[in-house]
Amino acid sequence: MNLEKPLLAPSILAADFSCLGEQIRQAEAAGANRIHIDVMDGQFVPNISFGIPVIQSIRKVSKIPFETHLMINTPDLLLEEFANAGSDTLIVHVENTPHLHRTVQRIKGLKKKAGVALNPATPLGTIEEILPELDLVLIMTVNPGFGGQKFIPATLEKIRRLSEQLLARKLSPEIEVDGGVDETTAPQVVRAGARVLVAGSAVFGHPQGIAEGMRRLSI
Ligand code: DX5
Ligand code: ZN
Repeated sequence: MNLEKPLLAPSILAADFSCLGEQIRQAEAAGANRIHIDVMDGQFVPNISFGIPVIQSIRKVSKIPFETHLMINTPDLLLEEFANAGSDTLIVHVENTPHLHRTVQRIKGLKKKAGVALNPATPLGTIEEILPELDLVLIMTVNPGFGGQKFIPATLEKIRRLSEQLLARKLSPEIEVDGGVDETTAPQVVRAGARVLVAGSAVFGHPQGIAEGMRRLSI
């Protein structure tokens, strides 16, 4: 069991884009450890969000690390651009990255942290060989593409198994979870072994505001 306090990575997908800089400032002031940036291309996932220019602009208003979750096909083509825009970690999906080892080495070559994301139906076995190279594993706890979806409880067992495997193999990439994380599911994923919690709606959509949303996720 992971007894450390989890790190919080608010996802700006749920933020008010008309005042995005201000929303990020508030999340940072409330103790956000990093900002989670969901990039969607309308191909790999059935939705489009935002891209490089938005990351460049928000980089100017925040000093905390940015992690960019690339839900796009052929992410290799744009790794350098996303790195230069101000990302500290680049997360690619195993499902659409056939030469994952090469992609991870490229990310490291750009002096960025390398993360790999797994959709709910993708087995942990797909990252068995690459695990020693990773800084972060992102376990999707919803099917990617939209904020505000319901947490898939079967993913808890997957988080638990990954946590055990890392311990047995003495590896230490961070286990991060993404999707449907709120004050009810946060303690469950942390007990299962998650170290970093991504939360969109529970932070930026909280009726009492961003700081209160963050506070309720702090376990
Ligand atoms: C989903 C994205 C998530 C999303 C989470 O495809 O990867 O990061 O913003 O949103 P919530 O926390 O609302 O489920
Ligand atoms: Zn995400």
